[in-house]
Amino acid sequence: MLKINNLHAQIEEGKEILKGINLEIKPGEVHAIMGPNGAGKSTLSSVIAGKEDYEVTGGEILFEGEDIIEDAPEERAHKGIFLSFQYPVEIPGVSVTNFIKAAINETRKAKGETEMSAKDMLGLVKKNSEKLGIKKDFLGRSLNEGFSGGEKKRNEIFQMLMLDPKLAILDETDSGLDIDALRIVADGVNSFKNEGNAVLLITHYQRLLDYIQPDFVHVLADGKIIKTGDKTLALELEEKGYDWLLN
Ligand SMILES: Nc1ncnc2c1ncn2[C@@H]1O[C@H](COP(=O)(O)OP(=O)(O)O)[C@@H](O)[C@H]1O
Ligand SMILES: [Mg+2]
Repeated sequence: MLKINNLHAQIEEGKEILKGINLEIKPGEVHAIMGPNGAGKSTLSSVIAGKEDYEVTGGEILFEGEDIIEDAPEERAHKGIFLSFQYPVEIPGVSVTNFIKAAINETRKAKGETEMSAKDMLGLVKKNSEKLGIKKDFLGRSLNEGFSGGEKKRNEIFQMLMLDPKLAILDETDSGLDIDALRIVADGVNSFKNEGNAVLLITHYQRLLDYIQPDFVHVLADGKIIKTGDKTLALELEEKGYDWLLN
């Protein structure tokens, strides 16, 4: 599904952050990326999603066999790449539901499909909000306005389930993920996952991996993947930290 070959990227001239990333994600897989602060984890997720602050200086990102490096973020989203919002914007006057309806219909339009019927949309909202224990009044609230940390997470995961991407990239910063928020993310990912889609989970939290079973764990340090293993690697990292890998 996703194949990254020797990817290099920088923010500003001469400050290379990604220094030759290789990563292959197949349908049905969950990959976790861990690593010290400043390693380039968020940069990697942003570059895959196509955020324009970064310049790719080498390598390729193939999504379903096609190089997407020239694609705008919206095009990548339409192709089925979802990135959770690390710092969500507030949109007063636009409700959680209306925002996601617009996003779904935009994707359909880009594919030459008609808008989803109100009935189908309602059904989808109902199914996914029930899955996440989202209450009706939450769906009517202005996007991100006054949201608590847990509510932001719930909104992100709701967006993921509603958009039903092929590849979901979740970038979990260390900012205020309490146990409830961890559960929301874990339950969301576990109910999202199937044989046809994939998840790239970026996290500092070994604890999150108690709830989500990754097929692969990668350690990203100084712009490179320095080690790949299965879920036991996450346990090893919790015990020993990163230093033993950094020599
Ligand atoms: N917008 C930016 N401007 C300048 N430097 C940045 C920017 N974003 C990230 N960096 C730098 O790039 C490096 C990698 O950052 P990041 O990808 O956020 O790491 P991580 O998510 O692994 O903590 C860090 O040294 C960080 O300071
Ligand atoms: Mg980060």
